[in-house]
Amino acid sequence: MSIDRLPLDIPIPLLLLAFLVAFGFANGLTKRKVLLPPGPRAVPILGNILGFDTNSPWITYMEWATVHGDLVYSRLLNQEIITINSEKVAKDLLERRSNIYSDRPQYITNDMCGWGFSSIFLNHGNTWRLHRRMFQQALRADAAMTYRPVQIRKVHQLLVNFLETPEEYSEHIQTLAASVVMEVTYGYDSAPRHDALVEAVERSTNILAKALSPEGAAILGALPFLRHIPAWFPGASFKRLTLECQQLTVGVVEIPFQYTKQSMAAGTAKLSMVSDLLSRTEQGDCHRELAIKHASASAFAAASETSSSTLNVFMLAMFLHPDVQRKAQLEIDSIIGRDRLPDFSDRPSLPYVEAVFRETLRWRPVAPLGIPHATKHDDHFEGYFIPKGAVVIPNIWAMAHNEDKYPDSNNFKPERFFTPDGKLNNDNVGFIFGFGRRVCVGRHIADATLWASFVSILATFSITKAKDRQGNEIEVTPKWTVGITTDEPREAVADD
Ligand code: HEM
Repeated sequence: MSIDRLPLDIPIPLLLLAFLVAFGFANGLTKRKVLLPPGPRAVPILGNILGFDTNSPWITYMEWATVHGDLVYSRLLNQEIITINSEKVAKDLLERRSNIYSDRPQYITNDMCGWGFSSIFLNHGNTWRLHRRMFQQALRADAAMTYRPVQIRKVHQLLVNFLETPEEYSEHIQTLAASVVMEVTYGYDSAPRHDALVEAVERSTNILAKALSPEGAAILGALPFLRHIPAWFPGASFKRLTLECQQLTVGVVEIPFQYTKQSMAAGTAKLSMVSDLLSRTEQGDCHRELAIKHASASAFAAASETSSSTLNVFMLAMFLHPDVQRKAQLEIDSIIGRDRLPDFSDRPSLPYVEAVFRETLRWRPVAPLGIPHATKHDDHFEGYFIPKGAVVIPNIWAMAHNEDKYPDSNNFKPERFFTPDGKLNNDNVGFIFGFGRRVCVGRHIADATLWASFVSILATFSITKAKDRQGNEIEVTPKWTVGITTDEPREAVADD
């Protein structure tokens, strides 16, 4: 099952109450004598919630940017939002002023789903610093290289799964993404298909990702007491889902962690982030042990859906652009031949595959609005006031579709990554992994898993349209789910 939105079918009286809460706030706002960044006209109480495309908010933000510029102010109920639509401004604020811009908004939905402990959502404080040091130790560029044999083994399993049941390709992709991170994080070798633990994590992170829709979080944020309404209350289906998520999360956090501890005690543990960190932890240091448990569960949650969504985008791009697919396959055949599978040592010799890789990340960034930052203090930037506590959203989609940098940006064109004299340029589309102190800690792992998957699939399969019983090709209409990541939902892949 995939969940498109967290259902917020809250009864009207409660919503009215939310509006009143927001109204008090809106009155407060009008009294503020400062120059906020420009933005769309907001209506009293609701702010800009009505002019907002909830299915593709990044498109709304991008449209607002064409009128108002790279820094746009808007409001969803009582939540002030600053959207950054250019890489330059994102670097100016999120990197150069990272002491102000590295908090996260504290959405009530994080706690309701049982994920409030996660490194992803922690404020810029000591616990987050401890998590971040652990990630740095375990997943920095050189440490990440130790996991390459695991990544190659899992990618080869993906190829076998594709061969056996190609119609289940999307499930196989999800399994690959989850099983790489399970082994990197816990040394847990998941079942080739339908691993119970992997499925629990997917379900839990799926609910969480959808729960993070800005308008849902805004309504729940304006009405915090909603979290206490009973699950049987009419309209409280969001409560039932978040309770389910909470229950799943307990297992997701505990089971793999205990697995690694037991394997270490039995002397059978494989190298993993958790075994590495636990081996450097003194017996009885419960504080550090809890941080390892929470950081590792966070890595798992952040890795699985982002990686599988990117692989789905790759499949779609190859399928829609057989010419690109063919050109990449010719490059692989001419450099590697057909007697062996590619490995990481081949990467520098395959520039066109590299360009396909970058273009896949750029064309449909799977975290189009990144993960929102928040301001710790008031700030001033280019004459504008940026209030403390504002949600700051890097519009990664807008950066990836900047027509000056990427002309004809909606088209999939790997050639854009070559200089006029035919060499790869130095644009590695790093912005898709975010900015500043909160930049993605798993980017080296993601980069290697995705590259190995793309090149191995290209070397062994052709991605073409499926045929119906009469032998006619089945047309495809891409549709996208929305939440903190965007994905092509399986059930919408083919129009029969
Ligand atoms: C295609 C794959 C991936 C993409 C596009 C991606 C993207 C992102 C983005 C945009 C952020 C937010 C950065 C910011 O706040 O500015 C982030 C944070 C994070 N990512 Fe990734 N990610 C991917 C894979 C992974 C993997 C494989 C892992 C773990 C092994 C991971 C772990 C994390 C964690 C823990 C954070 C939170 C960092 C913090 O808040 O300090 N990600 N990622």
